[in-house]
Amino acid sequence: MEFVKQLKERAKANKQRIVLPEGTEERTISAADIILSEGFADIILIGSPEKIQSEANRLGLKHIDKATIIDPQNHQKIDAYTDLLVEIRKSKGVTPDEARKLVTNPLYLAVMMIKNGDADGEVAGADNSTGDVLRPAFQIVKTLPGISVVSGAFVMILNDKQFGEDGMMVFADCAVHPDPTARELAEIAVASASTARSIAGFKEPRIAMLSFSTKGSAKHAMVDKVVEATKIAKEMEPNLIIDGDLQSDAAIIPSIGMKKAGDSPVAGKANVLIFPNLECGNIAYKLVQRMANAEAIGPVLQGMAAPINDLSRGCSVSDIVNLVAITANQAAGNIK
Ligand code: ACO
Repeated sequence: MEFVKQLKERAKANKQRIVLPEGTEERTISAADIILSEGFADIILIGSPEKIQSEANRLGLKHIDKATIIDPQNHQKIDAYTDLLVEIRKSKGVTPDEARKLVTNPLYLAVMMIKNGDADGEVAGADNSTGDVLRPAFQIVKTLPGISVVSGAFVMILNDKQFGEDGMMVFADCAVHPDPTARELAEIAVASASTARSIAGFKEPRIAMLSFSTKGSAKHAMVDKVVEATKIAKEMEPNLIIDGDLQSDAAIIPSIGMKKAGDSPVAGKANVLIFPNLECGNIAYKLVQRMANAEAIGPVLQGMAAPINDLSRGCSVSDIVNLVAITANQAAGNIK
Protein backbone atom coordinates (compact mmCIF):
# COMPACT_ATOMS: atom_id res chain seq x y z
CA MET A 1 0.00 0.00 0.00
CA GLU A 2 1.43 3.33 -1.14
CA PHE A 3 0.57 5.29 2.04
CA VAL A 4 2.38 2.84 4.35
CA LYS A 5 5.31 2.46 1.94
CA GLN A 6 5.87 6.22 2.02
CA LEU A 7 5.71 6.26 5.83
CA LYS A 8 8.39 3.57 5.98
CA GLU A 9 10.66 5.37 3.49
CA ARG A 10 10.39 8.61 5.48
CA ALA A 11 11.10 6.78 8.74
CA LYS A 12 14.14 5.06 7.25
CA ALA A 13 15.71 8.39 6.34
CA ASN A 14 15.98 9.36 10.03
CA LYS A 15 15.81 6.18 12.08
CA GLN A 16 14.23 6.40 15.52
CA ARG A 17 14.31 4.06 18.53
CA ILE A 18 10.85 2.62 19.16
CA VAL A 19 10.23 0.71 22.37
CA LEU A 20 7.79 -2.23 22.38
CA PRO A 21 7.06 -3.06 26.03
CA GLU A 22 5.14 -6.25 25.17
CA GLY A 23 8.36 -7.83 23.93
CA THR A 24 7.37 -11.45 24.54
CA GLU A 25 3.95 -11.18 22.85
CA GLU A 26 3.77 -13.24 19.66
CA ARG A 27 2.39 -10.59 17.23
CA THR A 28 4.67 -7.93 18.71
CA ILE A 29 7.85 -9.99 18.32
CA SER A 30 6.80 -11.00 14.80
CA ALA A 31 6.22 -7.33 13.93
CA ALA A 32 9.61 -6.42 15.43
CA ASP A 33 11.25 -8.98 13.18
CA ILE A 34 9.60 -7.45 10.07
CA ILE A 35 10.56 -3.89 11.12
CA LEU A 36 14.16 -4.92 11.75
CA SER A 37 14.36 -6.73 8.42
CA GLU A 38 12.93 -3.68 6.61
CA GLY A 39 15.18 -1.41 8.69
CA PHE A 40 12.87 1.58 9.12
CA ALA A 41 13.23 1.81 12.93
CA ASP A 42 15.51 0.60 15.69
CA ILE A 43 13.58 -1.64 18.04
CA ILE A 44 13.82 -1.98 21.82
CA LEU A 45 11.97 -5.03 23.18
CA ILE A 46 11.11 -5.13 26.88
CA GLY A 47 10.83 -8.63 28.35
CA SER A 48 12.77 -11.55 29.70
CA PRO A 49 15.70 -12.04 27.29
CA GLU A 50 15.38 -15.85 27.55
CA LYS A 51 11.65 -15.75 26.76
CA ILE A 52 12.17 -13.37 23.82
CA GLN A 53 14.88 -15.61 22.41
CA SER A 54 12.84 -18.78 22.81
CA GLU A 55 9.78 -17.12 21.18
CA ALA A 56 11.98 -15.91 18.31
CA ASN A 57 13.31 -19.47 17.86
CA ARG A 58 9.84 -20.99 18.05
CA LEU A 59 8.52 -18.54 15.43
CA GLY A 60 11.60 -18.96 13.22
CA LEU A 61 12.39 -15.22 13.31
CA LYS A 62 15.73 -14.20 11.79
CA HIS A 63 16.28 -10.54 12.76
CA ILE A 64 15.55 -10.31 16.51
CA ASP A 65 19.28 -10.25 17.32
CA LYS A 66 19.27 -6.67 15.90
CA ALA A 67 16.86 -5.54 18.67
CA THR A 68 17.97 -4.07 21.98
CA ILE A 69 16.45 -6.21 24.73
CA ILE A 70 15.71 -4.75 28.17
CA ASP A 71 14.89 -7.05 31.08
CA PRO A 72 12.32 -5.11 33.14
CA GLN A 73 13.29 -6.85 36.39
CA ASN A 74 17.00 -6.28 36.02
CA HIS A 75 18.11 -3.29 34.00
CA GLN A 76 20.88 -0.76 34.52
CA LYS A 77 18.71 2.33 35.02
CA ILE A 78 16.28 1.15 37.70
CA ASP A 79 17.71 3.63 40.24
CA ALA A 80 17.78 6.58 37.84
CA TYR A 81 14.23 5.94 36.61
CA THR A 82 12.98 5.47 40.19
CA ASP A 83 14.35 8.87 41.20
CA LEU A 84 12.94 10.52 38.07
CA LEU A 85 9.49 8.98 38.60
CA VAL A 86 9.40 10.09 42.25
CA GLU A 87 10.26 13.62 41.10
CA ILE A 88 7.54 13.64 38.40
CA ARG A 89 4.81 12.17 40.62
CA LYS A 90 5.73 13.71 43.98
CA SER A 91 2.65 15.96 43.91
CA LYS A 92 0.58 12.75 43.70
CA GLY A 93 2.39 11.26 46.71
CA VAL A 94 4.27 8.46 44.88
CA THR A 95 6.87 6.99 47.27
CA PRO A 96 10.32 5.63 46.28
CA ASP A 97 9.12 2.06 46.98
CA GLU A 98 6.08 2.51 44.74
CA ALA A 99 8.18 4.14 42.03
CA ARG A 100 10.75 1.31 42.10
CA LYS A 101 7.94 -1.23 41.62
CA LEU A 102 6.42 0.82 38.80
CA VAL A 103 9.68 1.08 36.82
CA THR A 104 9.83 -2.72 36.60
CA ASN A 105 6.35 -2.71 34.97
CA PRO A 106 7.10 -2.76 31.21
CA LEU A 107 4.39 -0.17 30.43
CA TYR A 108 5.84 2.33 32.93
CA LEU A 109 9.41 1.41 32.02
CA ALA A 110 8.80 2.17 28.32
CA VAL A 111 7.45 5.65 29.13
CA MET A 112 10.33 6.30 31.55
CA MET A 113 12.79 5.40 28.79
CA ILE A 114 11.18 8.04 26.55
CA LYS A 115 11.10 10.61 29.34
CA ASN A 116 14.80 9.97 30.06
CA GLY A 117 15.78 10.19 26.37
CA ASP A 118 16.59 6.47 26.04
CA ALA A 119 13.86 5.80 23.46
CA ASP A 120 12.06 8.02 20.95
CA GLY A 121 8.59 6.49 20.81
CA GLU A 122 6.44 3.61 22.02
CA VAL A 123 3.83 1.26 20.60
CA ALA A 124 1.90 -1.06 22.95
CA GLY A 125 -1.54 -2.51 23.46
CA ALA A 126 -1.50 -5.89 21.70
CA ASP A 127 -1.69 -7.49 25.14
CA ASN A 128 -2.85 -4.68 27.45
CA SER A 129 -5.96 -2.53 27.64
CA THR A 130 -5.90 1.02 26.34
CA GLY A 131 -6.29 2.36 29.87
CA ASP A 132 -3.22 0.47 31.10
CA VAL A 133 -1.14 1.68 28.12
CA LEU A 134 -2.27 5.30 28.37
CA ARG A 135 -2.22 5.89 32.13
CA PRO A 136 1.62 5.90 32.45
CA ALA A 137 1.85 8.14 29.41
CA PHE A 138 -0.68 10.62 30.83
CA GLN A 139 1.09 10.61 34.20
CA ILE A 140 4.67 10.87 32.94
CA VAL A 141 4.88 12.63 29.55
CA LYS A 142 1.49 14.39 29.75
CA THR A 143 -0.12 16.49 27.00
CA LEU A 144 1.37 19.02 24.59
CA PRO A 145 1.35 22.64 25.78
CA GLY A 146 -2.08 24.20 25.29
CA ILE A 147 -3.80 20.80 24.85
CA SER A 148 -5.97 19.46 27.63
CA VAL A 149 -7.14 16.22 26.12
CA VAL A 150 -5.52 13.30 24.31
CA SER A 151 -7.61 11.57 21.67
CA GLY A 152 -7.11 8.79 19.14
CA ALA A 153 -7.61 9.07 15.37
CA PHE A 154 -7.69 6.36 12.74
CA VAL A 155 -6.69 6.83 9.13
CA MET A 156 -9.32 4.69 7.38
CA ILE A 157 -8.47 3.34 3.95
CA LEU A 158 -11.65 2.31 2.20
CA ASN A 159 -12.00 0.18 -0.89
CA ASP A 160 -14.75 2.49 -2.13
CA LYS A 161 -12.81 5.46 -3.49
CA GLN A 162 -15.84 7.80 -3.63
CA PHE A 163 -15.43 8.67 0.07
CA GLY A 164 -13.03 11.24 1.55
CA GLU A 165 -9.77 11.69 -0.36
CA ASP A 166 -9.76 8.85 -2.85
CA GLY A 167 -11.08 6.46 -0.19
CA MET A 168 -8.98 7.82 2.68
CA MET A 169 -10.67 9.37 5.73
CA VAL A 170 -9.73 10.33 9.29
CA PHE A 171 -12.03 9.22 12.15
CA ALA A 172 -11.71 10.56 15.74
CA ASP A 173 -11.96 10.11 18.70
CA CYS A 174 -12.17 6.34 18.41
CA ALA A 175 -9.87 5.35 21.24
CA VAL A 176 -9.39 7.54 24.30
CA HIS A 177 -11.76 10.06 25.85
CA PRO A 178 -15.18 8.58 26.72
CA ASP A 179 -17.37 11.63 27.15
CA PRO A 180 -15.84 14.91 25.92
CA THR A 181 -17.27 18.30 26.81
CA ALA A 182 -18.00 20.72 23.96
CA ARG A 183 -14.59 22.36 24.45
CA GLU A 184 -12.81 19.00 24.49
CA LEU A 185 -14.69 17.93 21.35
CA ALA A 186 -13.54 21.15 19.68
CA GLU A 187 -9.93 20.37 20.67
CA ILE A 188 -10.34 16.87 19.23
CA ALA A 189 -11.57 18.38 15.94
CA VAL A 190 -8.64 20.80 15.73
CA ALA A 191 -6.12 18.05 16.57
CA SER A 192 -7.71 15.77 13.97
CA ALA A 193 -7.35 18.44 11.29
CA SER A 194 -3.66 18.47 12.07
CA THR A 195 -3.47 14.65 11.90
CA ALA A 196 -5.36 14.76 8.59
CA ARG A 197 -2.81 17.21 7.17
CA SER A 198 0.37 15.71 8.53
CA ILE A 199 -0.32 11.98 8.55
CA ALA A 200 -3.02 11.40 5.93
CA GLY A 201 -1.58 14.19 3.73
CA PHE A 202 -4.91 15.99 3.21
CA LYS A 203 -4.36 19.51 1.84
CA GLU A 204 -7.84 20.53 2.91
CA PRO A 205 -9.33 18.74 5.92
CA ARG A 206 -13.13 19.06 5.72
CA ILE A 207 -14.45 18.22 9.17
CA ALA A 208 -17.92 16.91 9.88
CA MET A 209 -19.05 17.15 13.51
CA LEU A 210 -21.36 14.16 13.59
CA SER A 211 -24.66 13.84 15.37
CA PHE A 212 -28.07 12.22 14.94
CA SER A 213 -29.26 15.63 13.73
CA THR A 214 -28.46 17.72 10.64
CA LYS A 215 -28.63 21.47 11.07
CA GLY A 216 -31.04 21.35 13.97
CA SER A 217 -33.34 18.64 12.59
CA ALA A 218 -33.48 17.22 16.13
CA LYS A 219 -33.51 19.10 19.42
CA HIS A 220 -31.50 17.55 22.24
CA ALA A 221 -28.72 18.44 24.67
CA MET A 222 -26.43 16.01 22.79
CA VAL A 223 -26.99 17.97 19.57
CA ASP A 224 -26.40 21.26 21.40
CA LYS A 225 -22.98 19.94 22.50
CA VAL A 226 -21.96 19.23 18.91
CA VAL A 227 -23.15 22.66 17.73
CA GLU A 228 -21.26 24.34 20.58
CA ALA A 229 -18.11 22.32 19.86
CA THR A 230 -18.27 23.38 16.18
CA LYS A 231 -18.47 27.03 17.24
CA ILE A 232 -15.52 26.69 19.65
CA ALA A 233 -13.40 24.89 17.04
CA LYS A 234 -14.01 27.77 14.60
CA GLU A 235 -12.91 30.24 17.25
CA MET A 236 -9.79 28.16 17.91
CA GLU A 237 -8.91 27.92 14.21
CA PRO A 238 -10.94 30.40 12.14
CA ASN A 239 -9.79 28.99 8.79
CA LEU A 240 -10.90 25.45 9.59
CA ILE A 241 -13.42 23.98 7.15
CA ILE A 242 -15.79 22.49 9.68
CA ASP A 243 -19.53 22.05 10.01
CA GLY A 244 -21.98 20.49 12.40
CA ASP A 245 -24.33 19.17 13.48
CA LEU A 246 -24.33 16.74 10.55
CA GLN A 247 -25.63 13.19 10.27
CA SER A 248 -23.17 10.73 8.82
CA ASP A 249 -25.08 10.28 5.54
CA ALA A 250 -25.30 14.04 5.07
CA ALA A 251 -21.56 14.27 5.76
CA ILE A 252 -20.38 11.78 3.16
CA ILE A 253 -23.05 11.39 0.44
CA PRO A 254 -23.19 14.44 -1.89
CA SER A 255 -26.89 14.12 -2.82
CA ILE A 256 -27.96 13.78 0.84
CA GLY A 257 -25.60 16.55 1.94
CA MET A 258 -27.13 18.79 -0.74
CA LYS A 259 -30.66 17.96 0.37
CA LYS A 260 -30.15 18.29 4.13
CA ALA A 261 -27.45 21.00 4.31
CA GLY A 262 -27.17 22.61 0.89
CA ASP A 263 -25.07 25.59 1.99
CA SER A 264 -22.58 23.56 4.06
CA PRO A 265 -18.90 23.67 3.06
CA VAL A 266 -18.51 20.12 4.37
CA ALA A 267 -21.75 18.19 3.78
CA GLY A 268 -21.38 15.49 1.14
CA LYS A 269 -17.60 15.86 0.99
CA ALA A 270 -16.27 15.38 4.51
CA ASN A 271 -12.87 13.70 4.80
CA VAL A 272 -12.60 13.96 8.61
CA LEU A 273 -15.38 12.57 10.82
CA ILE A 274 -15.54 13.68 14.45
CA PHE A 275 -17.78 11.51 16.61
CA PRO A 276 -19.69 13.07 19.53
CA ASN A 277 -18.31 10.57 22.04
CA LEU A 278 -16.10 7.49 22.29
CA GLU A 279 -19.00 5.03 22.12
CA CYS A 280 -19.89 6.26 18.63
CA GLY A 281 -16.29 6.57 17.45
CA ASN A 282 -15.05 3.20 18.63
CA ILE A 283 -18.14 1.33 17.41
CA ALA A 284 -18.12 3.11 14.04
CA TYR A 285 -14.47 2.54 13.16
CA LYS A 286 -14.66 -1.17 14.04
CA LEU A 287 -17.85 -1.65 12.00
CA VAL A 288 -16.37 0.12 8.97
CA GLN A 289 -13.12 -1.83 9.34
CA ARG A 290 -14.85 -5.21 9.53
CA MET A 291 -17.97 -4.76 7.36
CA ALA A 292 -16.41 -2.64 4.60
CA ASN A 293 -13.11 -4.53 4.82
CA ALA A 294 -11.31 -1.21 5.33
CA GLU A 295 -7.78 -0.78 6.63
CA ALA A 296 -7.80 1.11 9.96
CA ILE A 297 -4.39 2.61 10.65
CA GLY A 298 -3.95 3.80 14.22
CA PRO A 299 -5.07 4.86 16.65
CA VAL A 300 -2.72 7.81 16.25
CA LEU A 301 -2.71 9.51 19.61
CA GLN A 302 -3.23 13.24 19.27
CA GLY A 303 -2.11 15.75 21.86
CA MET A 304 0.38 13.57 23.77
CA ALA A 305 3.71 15.26 24.45
CA ALA A 306 5.68 12.25 23.10
CA PRO A 307 4.96 9.77 20.31
CA ILE A 308 3.19 6.98 22.19
CA ASN A 309 0.57 4.96 20.37
CA ASP A 310 -1.84 2.30 21.50
CA LEU A 311 -3.01 -0.78 19.61
CA SER A 312 -6.30 -2.61 19.79
CA ARG A 313 -5.89 -6.05 21.41
CA GLY A 314 -7.46 -7.47 18.24
CA CYS A 315 -4.58 -6.07 16.16
CA SER A 316 -2.70 -8.02 13.50
CA VAL A 317 1.06 -8.14 12.96
CA SER A 318 0.73 -5.66 10.09
CA ASP A 319 -1.30 -3.26 12.31
CA ILE A 320 1.72 -3.19 14.68
CA VAL A 321 4.21 -2.67 11.83
CA ASN A 322 2.06 0.18 10.44
CA LEU A 323 1.68 1.89 13.81
CA VAL A 324 5.43 1.68 14.42
CA ALA A 325 5.92 3.39 11.03
CA ILE A 326 3.61 6.23 12.11
CA THR A 327 5.23 6.48 15.55
CA ALA A 328 8.72 6.59 14.03
CA ASN A 329 7.63 9.45 11.75
CA GLN A 330 6.13 11.32 14.70
CA ALA A 331 9.38 10.82 16.64
CA ALA A 332 11.43 12.07 13.70
CA GLY A 333 9.28 15.21 13.56
CA ASN A 334 8.05 14.32 10.06
CA ILE A 335 4.49 14.46 11.30
CA LYS A 336 2.98 16.33 14.23
N1 ACO B 1 -6.10 13.34 27.97
C1 ACO B 1 -5.11 13.76 28.78
N2 ACO B 1 -4.95 13.37 30.05
C2 ACO B 1 -5.87 12.51 30.55
C3 ACO B 1 -6.95 12.04 29.77
C4 ACO B 1 -7.03 12.48 28.41
N3 ACO B 1 -7.98 12.04 27.55
N4 ACO B 1 -7.69 11.19 30.52
C5 ACO B 1 -7.09 11.14 31.74
N5 ACO B 1 -6.00 11.93 31.75
C6 ACO B 1 -5.02 12.12 32.84
C7 ACO B 1 -5.63 12.66 34.11
O1 ACO B 1 -5.60 14.06 34.10
C8 ACO B 1 -4.72 12.05 35.17
O2 ACO B 1 -3.52 12.78 35.28
P1 ACO B 1 -2.85 12.95 36.74
O3 ACO B 1 -2.73 11.58 37.34
O4 ACO B 1 -1.51 13.56 36.44
O5 ACO B 1 -3.78 13.83 37.50
C9 ACO B 1 -4.32 10.70 34.58
O6 ACO B 1 -4.54 10.81 33.17
C10 ACO B 1 -5.14 9.57 35.12
O7 ACO B 1 -6.45 10.06 35.12
P2 ACO B 1 -7.71 9.21 35.55
O8 ACO B 1 -8.93 10.05 35.59
O9 ACO B 1 -7.36 8.38 36.75
O10 ACO B 1 -7.81 8.38 34.28
P3 ACO B 1 -8.25 6.98 34.16
O11 ACO B 1 -7.07 6.16 34.32
O12 ACO B 1 -9.43 6.64 35.00
O13 ACO B 1 -8.79 7.05 32.66
C11 ACO B 1 -8.33 6.48 30.46
C12 ACO B 1 -8.05 7.49 31.56
C13 ACO B 1 -7.69 5.19 30.88
C14 ACO B 1 -7.79 6.89 29.13
C15 ACO B 1 -9.87 6.32 30.38
O14 ACO B 1 -10.41 7.52 29.93
C16 ACO B 1 -10.27 5.19 29.51
O15 ACO B 1 -10.29 4.02 29.94
N6 ACO B 1 -10.66 5.49 28.24
C17 ACO B 1 -11.17 4.49 27.34
C18 ACO B 1 -10.05 3.82 26.62
C19 ACO B 1 -10.61 2.66 25.87
O16 ACO B 1 -10.94 1.66 26.46
N7 ACO B 1 -10.73 2.80 24.52
C20 ACO B 1 -11.34 1.83 23.67
C21 ACO B 1 -10.40 0.80 23.18
S1 ACO B 1 -9.17 1.44 22.08
C22 ACO B 1 -9.40 0.69 20.59
O17 ACO B 1 -10.30 -0.06 20.42
C23 ACO B 1 -8.49 1.05 19.52
